[in-house]
Amino acid sequence: METEIQLRNQIVQRLRDNQQQDENRLAFHLTPPLGLMNDPNGLVYYKGKYHVFFQWNPFDTKHTFKCWGHYSSTDFIHWEVHPPALVPSEWYEKDGCYSGSAIVYDNKLYLFYTGNVKTTDGGRETYQCLAVSDDGIHFEKKGPVIYLPEGFTPHFRDPKVWKQGNKWFMVIGAQTKELEGLITVFSSDDLINWQWLGPLAGNGVSLSKYFGYMWECPDFFALDGKDILIVSPQGLQAEPFKYENLYQSGYFIGVWDIKTNKYVHGTFKELDHGFDFYAPQTFEDPNGRRILLAWMGMGDEQEQTHQSIKSGWIHSLTIPRELTVKDGCLYQKPVEELRKLRNRASSETFSMANEEIDVLLDSELQEIIIEFEQFEGKKWEIHIQNNCKLIFNKIESIVTLERQNFNHSKWEKRQCKIDKINNIHMYLDRTSLEIFLNDGQIVFSSRFYGENAKKQCSISVEGNTKFSWQNWSLNSYQYKNHKLKRLCTN
Ligand code: FRU
Repeated sequence: METEIQLRNQIVQRLRDNQQQDENRLAFHLTPPLGLMNDPNGLVYYKGKYHVFFQWNPFDTKHTFKCWGHYSSTDFIHWEVHPPALVPSEWYEKDGCYSGSAIVYDNKLYLFYTGNVKTTDGGRETYQCLAVSDDGIHFEKKGPVIYLPEGFTPHFRDPKVWKQGNKWFMVIGAQTKELEGLITVFSSDDLINWQWLGPLAGNGVSLSKYFGYMWECPDFFALDGKDILIVSPQGLQAEPFKYENLYQSGYFIGVWDIKTNKYVHGTFKELDHGFDFYAPQTFEDPNGRRILLAWMGMGDEQEQTHQSIKSGWIHSLTIPRELTVKDGCLYQKPVEELRKLRNRASSETFSMANEEIDVLLDSELQEIIIEFEQFEGKKWEIHIQNNCKLIFNKIESIVTLERQNFNHSKWEKRQCKIDKINNIHMYLDRTSLEIFLNDGQIVFSSRFYGENAKKQCSISVEGNTKFSWQNWSLNSYQYKNHKLKRLCTN
């Protein structure tokens, strides 16, 4: 096993050697400097900055090596690239510093993460580990603080920590020996010694039937008077309008009795209906906002056909979104800081009846807001860059996102039931689309194949429609050390 210094030097060398220029790289989304990015980790506000860590393989565009990459920002627009926060160097994490979370205590930044160990017989071991920092950049590893309890397989990972009253709590994603997904809770007075409180949610705990073979990346927080559990279950059967991706991410809204650890909740609702959204994590910022970022990717068979692989990178995170609870659902709204990306604006009001119009966009980076004043028709369609379509069929109350499959170019779709669409808020970043309907009630996040990318969009309607259209060309995120060359020189 390489030492930490050797690994860091190899990462620096790869970044120095990298000559790739990629004009298709997403411009206002966090992407990996090189290699593969998956889950957002350790989202936190510390010493005046937002910190976004992420699962990172700097050596390949596959899910092999995993360390924690690191960006920080004061405003979600200007980003600084830091050395990897955690690289696997110890026995308890030798096959990956897996996902986890961050909290601030006593002016220090604490990271909790899963140490992944592959055993010689093809199995695995899992350790929930701690690393602490005084400056938010350099971390001292403290080793495992939680070992695998009885009754679970080593698919036990992704600790998320928070404080309630005088105590610290931690949820962990788990798989029981019966191969069912579950969330478990621990508590602690000092962040070092943890007591197991038992399961929080899952079949036989808060549900009465099988709901997947593993629950990853839990997040548990209070918002607008409710206790919300976000999880990413694996192994749900696809149903019409539901669970159409390989893995899902969604939430339960309920009430948690902290004394008895009983969590009573409603049904599971998906957070996003697009093709690429997984492993979301949230944190509370100093203004009391609950902000979510997710991996805008999906570990499925299309992964290795992304065009960006030619340029040595794959995947991104979503834009940051603020969460609120409304009518028993989580609503997502792009954080208002993103308005600072706005550049040239244009707006128009359209009255259309059974026709199609083209709207020429003046850049591949766009924010678009459509407000429907009237829609008496059956259907509308918005086509983006010939590769993506958003379709609302009012008769059937179905909204559909279609894109061309990365492997074979055939059209594929994701759908959701909705009676009425009042407004659409869209972010287009070259080959990604995030679509917020009805002020964030329904969201679709997707990458799409960008080879035929044109700055073009068309709208067609069946029936009478009146809507206002506003769009802004957007600026890119700004990076402080954008050459990324000094990324790992500690
Ligand atoms: C979710 C996940 C986590 C794990 C990490 C490894 O995408 O599988 O459960 O910690 O990715 O990269």
